[in-house]
Amino acid sequence: MAPSDVVCGLNLRAGSPDSLAVIASQIGDSVIYEIDAHCRQEPLVRARCGEYLLHHPDLLGEYIRALKREEVSVSVKMRAGVSADDLLLVKKIWGAGADIIHVDLMDFGYQKVRQIRNNSPLFVIANNSVNTFEKMKDMLSHGADMVSLARQSDERTLAGLDAAISRFTDEHGWYNAPKQLCRGGDIRSLAFCCMPVKNCPLIPMLEKIGLSREDYLSFKQNAVAGTPLDFGSQTCFGSLAWCCKDSSPCMFREMTLRQAGLSNREYMRQKKQLADKIMQHLFYEDAATHPC
Ligand SMILES: Cc1cc2nc3c(=O)[nH]c(=O)nc-3n(C[C@H](O)[C@H](O)[C@H](O)COP(=O)(O)O)c2cc1C
Ligand code: SF4
Ligand code: SF4
Repeated sequence: MAPSDVVCGLNLRAGSPDSLAVIASQIGDSVIYEIDAHCRQEPLVRARCGEYLLHHPDLLGEYIRALKREEVSVSVKMRAGVSADDLLLVKKIWGAGADIIHVDLMDFGYQKVRQIRNNSPLFVIANNSVNTFEKMKDMLSHGADMVSLARQSDERTLAGLDAAISRFTDEHGWYNAPKQLCRGGDIRSLAFCCMPVKNCPLIPMLEKIGLSREDYLSFKQNAVAGTPLDFGSQTCFGSLAWCCKDSSPCMFREMTLRQAGLSNREYMRQKKQLADKIMQHLFYEDAATHPC
C-alpha cells in the first residue's frame, strides 16, 4: 500500500495488551490500529477479545494504553447496545487515549452517533447499513466524521458515495456540517445558534453542558473576533457568528456575505472553525462544562 495515498487500518483481535504492543512495535505508525471490541464469536470472546472488551472496559483501557505507548493511532471498533452504558464506555475509551471510535450502530441509527458526538471529541466512524448518500449524510450531519461499509462495500457503491460527498463538499464547504440544534443537530451546531434570547432547545443544551448564557455569548464573540464571521450589522443579532446554516435561506445573511465577498462555501468553512473552537473549549479547556 505504501505508494498509494490510502491510510490502512488493521482490525485486530488480541488476547493481551502485550500482543498488541508487539505488533505495533514491528509495523510502526504508518497504519491505524483498530482494537476489535465487536466480534461475538464464542471462542474469541473466551479468549478475552472482541465483545468481551465491551463488558470489561478496564481491560479495553489497558489495550488502548498499550498501543498508545507505541505512539500509534488507535481506533476501537464497538457494537452499540452491548455495554451496560455506551456513553460511559465511550468516555472511558476517550479517557484511555484512543483517537477513533468506530461504531456498529446496529438498529440505533444516527441518534446514537449524536450521543457519542455530544459526549466525546473522538473521531467517529459510523457503521451499519450505510449504502446510500442519504444514509451517509444522516450520519455525517449528526456527528460522524466518516462512515464505513462492510456488506455493501462494492466498488460501485463506494464510488457513488465518494462522488456524492465530493460534490456536496464543493458546494457547501463543510462535508459533515451538523443540522441546526432545533432540527436535531449535535453539539457542534452551537456554531449556528442564535443569541440566547428565546425559549428554544439552546437553553436546555446550555444547561446540560454547564455553560451559562453569558459565557456562551462571550465565548462565541471572542471566538469570531478578527474572522470574517465578525460582521453582519444587517443580520438578526448583528454578526454572522449567530447566523444559520447556508441551507436555511436568508436574504439578510446572503446580502452580508455578498458585501463581504464571502462565498457560501467559505462561510461554512468559517463556521466549521468556530465549531472546532467550541469543541476544544467544551472538551479540553473548560473543566466546569460537562458535555451531555
Ligand atoms: C463477513 C464479515 C466479516 C466481518 N469481519 C469483521 C472483523 O474482522 N472485524 C470487525 O470489527 N468487524 C467485522 N465485521 C463487521 C462489519 O465490519 C460491520 O460492522 C457490519 O457488517 C455492519 O456494517 P455493514 O452494514 O456495512 O455491513 C464483519 C462483517 C462481515 C459481514
Ligand atoms: S438558538 Fe436558534 S438555531 Fe439554536 S436552537 Fe434556538 S432557534 Fe434553533
Ligand atoms: S440573519 Fe438570517 S441567517 Fe442570520 S440569524 Fe437571522 S435568519 Fe438566521
